[in-house]
Amino acid sequence: MTGILPGATIGILGGGQLGRMTAMAARSLGYRIQVMDPDPSCPARFVVDACFEGGWDDARVAADLARGCDVVTLEIEQISIACLKAAAKYAPVRPGAGAMRIIQDRILQKNWLGDHGAPIGAWRAVESEAELADAVSALGDKCFVKSARGGYDGRSQVKIGFGDATSAAEAWRLLGGKPCVAEQALDLEKEISVMVARAPNGETKSFASALNHHENQILDWSVIPSSIKPDLEARAQQIATGIAAGLEIEGLLAVEMFVTKGGELLVNELAPRPHNSYHASERACVTSQFEQAVRAVCDLPLGDVSVVQPAAIANLLGDLWLGKDGEAREPRLDRALAIPGVGLHLYEKHKPRKGRKMGHLSAVGKTPDEAVQRVLTAKELL
Ligand SMILES: Nc1ncnc2c1ncn2[C@@H]1O[C@H](COP(=O)(O)OP(=O)(O)OP(=O)(O)O)[C@@H](O)[C@H]1O
Ligand SMILES: [Mg+2]
Repeated sequence: MTGILPGATIGILGGGQLGRMTAMAARSLGYRIQVMDPDPSCPARFVVDACFEGGWDDARVAADLARGCDVVTLEIEQISIACLKAAAKYAPVRPGAGAMRIIQDRILQKNWLGDHGAPIGAWRAVESEAELADAVSALGDKCFVKSARGGYDGRSQVKIGFGDATSAAEAWRLLGGKPCVAEQALDLEKEISVMVARAPNGETKSFASALNHHENQILDWSVIPSSIKPDLEARAQQIATGIAAGLEIEGLLAVEMFVTKGGELLVNELAPRPHNSYHASERACVTSQFEQAVRAVCDLPLGDVSVVQPAAIANLLGDLWLGKDGEAREPRLDRALAIPGVGLHLYEKHKPRKGRKMGHLSAVGKTPDEAVQRVLTAKELL
């Protein structure tokens, strides 16, 4: 038995909601947990043994965290390589710096995907305003421009050619004049994701795909299973597990994918950590993504990923806590919770802001559609 057994201490780089829910699963299994986050009252703070205050590139604090840990994992891909290397002096870091270096830079990530035969949409790496202008015309004038580094929930992205007259020059300026990728805007039929867990011993299990609906480039709701056709599901699984094996992931890898109106299946991006689109795994699957993350990074046998019942989640953004003029309001959580089958997660974030993920509702149903309808009905009542 080579695994890191319950009773040991897990370190998590990042203490947001993903770190918090991973910590809660780790606690159930009997682990001790400490996190590193720039915010001393981050969401994980309230469920862990210790919180180290440090930014994503604070290698000294990452080393301090790792010194007291048996294994270190992460919940955000912006953690600097220097932090990962500093932590690795004291404890295994999973996923490791090799995979993280590729994933945290959109240019390296897309080149890696292309080189390894994963299907991706048309794109260009861009390092100047002139290159961006060229890329936009080469890609057909309608583009998503995304910073190579940083950015989540649609931040650090600018759309070009969608009616509002954003020029390449303006987009370059809005993104801070830093390297970025220009992607052809695809005509999407739907979006799915596949979560893969891979243990250091090579054991791999992937969950049934999730179907994801975005509003303004932020995940709005998600459901497991996705109900896509079996041949598409098989291809999605093959692509996702192939990428996890190629990157030698230790831990979780979420693979976001587009299904285009033309029937193509294309990889959007990778996330080496628990993913918002698998929050419903807590209710849909025998093993949740959070428990699976703990099992994978501790090199324990991976849990059963079978779907027990369809389940959906709907994100609750800070907007719900803000009235029309920005004044505070309380969403009617009691009304949502009165619907049979509806559950609630709140992340204990103290300041609601527009677009900030504060929590999510979940619902089960006899079918994926029913689960989605139920969770959306509950959200309407807030
Ligand atoms: N090339 C594209 N064509 C069409 N839609 C796109 C494209 N790129 C992004 N989108 C839309 O914007 C959403 C967010 O894009 P992306 O996943 O790249 O951003 P992100 O900021 O990393 O988001 P998150 O952190 O929520 O995953 C996608 O899920 C999709 O709905
Ligand atoms: Mg995304």
